[in-house]
Amino acid sequence: MITTEAIIQMKKKKEKIVCLTAYDYPTARILDDAGIEIILVGDSAANVVAGEKNTLPITMSDMLYHTKVVARAVRNAMVITDMPFLSYQCSIDEAVKNAGSFLKVGAAGVKLEGAGPVLKTIERLVQVGIPVMGHLGLTPQSIHKFGGYKLRGKTKKEAEQIIKDAKRLESAGCFAIVLEKIPAKLAKKITRILKIPTIGIGAGPFCDGQILVLHDMLGFYEDFKPKFVKQYARIGEEITRAVKEYINEVKKGIFPDKEHYFE
Ligand code: KIV
Repeated sequence: MITTEAIIQMKKKKEKIVCLTAYDYPTARILDDAGIEIILVGDSAANVVAGEKNTLPITMSDMLYHTKVVARAVRNAMVITDMPFLSYQCSIDEAVKNAGSFLKVGAAGVKLEGAGPVLKTIERLVQVGIPVMGHLGLTPQSIHKFGGYKLRGKTKKEAEQIIKDAKRLESAGCFAIVLEKIPAKLAKKITRILKIPTIGIGAGPFCDGQILVLHDMLGFYEDFKPKFVKQYARIGEEITRAVKEYINEVKKGIFPDKEHYFE
């Protein structure tokens, strides 16, 4: 099992950290066997699994289910779970309970969005032995504050705030920080300043690692295609082809054939 210490060491050795999201048993097994270092049970499940417009509706019980089935499949990767909206903002005690329940079903740590209002919570989680990954830049749970999914950290003021927040997250005990949709130059600066690794998504090539949403990179979710996503497969097209072939064969009585039934 990959540990937080191993992840921090990878930065020291300048070894890129490769992360993907997963939400179910079979894909988590494939990702783990392929050698992915961190599997994030992202609250992006709200979008790519449940078809919601944003990540706000996903619940603790949804995320516990996704975490449980992913963790069951994984033998080597580090499984980190996104704490859903309102599961860590209301009180520190509630955040500890909720984060702890993810560890009980097999996660090795949790990810929280933002800095200022949740720094004390992060400190407490780390104190009680729950590894925390931070998340800065575009934080999708703040969609209504930002008013959209625009690039963050473009102005000097916002860039300085993100740098300050990154330093605070490191001091609070985060073992890594996701930087989402910020200019590559800003991500490079933060990566240079911090001792803990930065994991980029739409943050350019200078981060210590990269993460993508699995369904985006596989071409399995076409409702929304951000510029920073590279499609490594067209799984949606392959599923369409297979399903159409099945429909055709059943209609024509080709399937089931001798090979697929019992005399
Ligand atoms: O929910 C998610 O998938 C994420 C990644 C985009 C980093 O937070």
